[in-house]
Amino acid sequence: MTDNLEWLASVASTNEVAMQRAKSGRSGPLWIAADQQTGGRGRGGRGWVSEPGNLYNSLLLTIDKPPMVLAQLALVAGIAVHDTVGRLAPDLKPMLKWPNDVLIDGAKICGILIESQLAPSGAGHNVVVGIGLNLAHHPDLAERRATSLAAQGLTVTPRQAWRHLSAAFAEQLALWSEGVGFSVICQSWQARAVAVGTEVSVKTGAASIYGRFCGLDTDGAMLLELTDGRRQRVTFGDVHIGAPPPADAS
Ligand code: BTN
Repeated sequence: MTDNLEWLASVASTNEVAMQRAKSGRSGPLWIAADQQTGGRGRGGRGWVSEPGNLYNSLLLTIDKPPMVLAQLALVAGIAVHDTVGRLAPDLKPMLKWPNDVLIDGAKICGILIESQLAPSGAGHNVVVGIGLNLAHHPDLAERRATSLAAQGLTVTPRQAWRHLSAAFAEQLALWSEGVGFSVICQSWQARAVAVGTEVSVKTGAASIYGRFCGLDTDGAMLLELTDGRRQRVTFGDVHIGAPPPADAS
């Protein structure tokens, strides 16, 4: 394999291991992958079920840029996973939903969790991009549809998937160039995203925003057209395709 990859049998969370390596002085790029996780972490404090068969990995990067620039990595990561799925399964039509969910026919096939900390050396930030890609199985959740490559008729091993993902990620990082190429990233992201005009609802804590997706702002925020015609920027929240359930409608 490579000096930049540690493949472990079982860990609590590959994000946690990557951050531990950074705290002990390792700088990125470094991939930490595991056959399974016993405490996989998802967004919004949720867990991430991590039985053997899927890809669980985290990329540690050390970058000396302000948090606003680091946030752009959410879109970079989404494109890399989108292209990985497209290369592993050329007949599927993956699509991106803001900021970086990859959907197959509306069902989520991956999860991305980005965490960052100031580097102990004081030289920039350690950023961990954690990616879970459903290969062999997927959770069966009523509230958010999920899928896997196996459910789409494909058998792909975690190591095969990692090889594609690490190559696709390196390509996108080179294009991004620590923020210099962010406008190119925004264009690429939009070319792979759900169609402009798609109805979306966004849960931001207790409130929900509903509107039509109309692309990205220059800083990567999602732009929505609300029902009264106003434009709204969205910088955080859980995005769902379609109108919110009646209880959530605002
Ligand atoms: C989400 O909630 O959509 C994000 C899920 C991210 C899961 C991945 S699996 C590899 C890495 N390690 C973790 O503990 N979480 C991420």
